[in-house]
Amino acid sequence: MTAKPITRLLLGLAAAAAALPAPAAAADAAAGRQKARQCQTCHGLDGIAKIPIAPHIAGESQIYLDTQLKAFRSGKREHEIMSVIAKDLSDADIADLSAWYASIEITATMPE
Ligand code: HEC
Repeated sequence: MTAKPITRLLLGLAAAAAALPAPAAAADAAAGRQKARQCQTCHGLDGIAKIPIAPHIAGESQIYLDTQLKAFRSGKREHEIMSVIAKDLSDADIADLSAWYASIEITATMPE
């Protein structure tokens, strides 16, 4: 019996998710909260940006945050502020910070 299209789609998505790189270090959101003090001037401890040029990072997926911080660190993504900040972050720092900001729940209210 051949799989139904929806089954094939779900299997494809599961395979794609499994292929995503898992954060290397075990992530500790509580430790990330402490480490986020160095981010709070711009992104807030709660992940809601405090300056107009910084993005909100609350509730972003852990994988996305991890990937962006590593990209800043490696130079794949460049920004005059973030490249300098990410340079000093270890894999564990990045995992913890990503876990912290990803764990914050956000809600969106659309305009009328
Ligand atoms: C002095 C201000 C400042 C500080 C401190 C700072 N950031 Fe940023 N961050 C920025 C700005 C500005 C950007 C937008 C970069 C761009 O335009 O590409 C950014 C971008 C990011 C992004 C990418 C977001 C996205 O949507 O792609 C992440 C993740 C991030 N910062 C995490 C952190 C973490 C974690 C810390 C603390 C270790 C931190 N930042 C500290 C200013 C700051």
